[in-house]
Amino acid sequence: MNLTKFTLPAVLFLLTISSGFWVAKSGKPYNTAVFTLHKLIALGMTIFATIAVVNVLKVTQIQPVVILLFVLAGLSILALFATGALMSAQKLAGNAWLLIHRVAPFLLAGSVTAAIFLVFKK
Ligand code: HEM
Repeated sequence: MNLTKFTLPAVLFLLTISSGFWVAKSGKPYNTAVFTLHKLIALGMTIFATIAVVNVLKVTQIQPVVILLFVLAGLSILALFATGALMSAQKLAGNAWLLIHRVAPFLLAGSVTAAIFLVFKK
């Protein structure tokens, strides 16, 4: 078990962030192509990150705090998908959703980095 399993999700995470700024820059109504790209990259990142995390959980003696950090990461992803969908539906005042959508990536990156650190230190 090594850290390289997290390389692809990490690269996709950076691409998700970059494409997110691209969506924001394209203005409202969102550019469908850019928006779809952002969603698909986010979905790919979620799938590959889940595979990497499941692999870690399978082969390692896990401390409860690591599980807690992965749960926090999962909740951040849920929040990102939910607020992303709400912003695109444009039904409710967008600012609160945008704020959550801007904060959640930090929570996601922070919790996963901390979990990986705890699993791989020694
Ligand atoms: C799961 C990982 C995701 C991450 C890390 C992420 C990150 C970001 C970032 C950094 C921005 C730029 C925000 C800004 O203007 O400062 C953004 C914008 C946006 N994202 Fe995401 N996003 C994710 C998933 C999604 C999903 C799944 C959707 C759609 C269902 C979505 C919809 C949007 C929309 C509509 C905007 C434009 C917001 C605006 O009007 O400024 N995002 N995203």
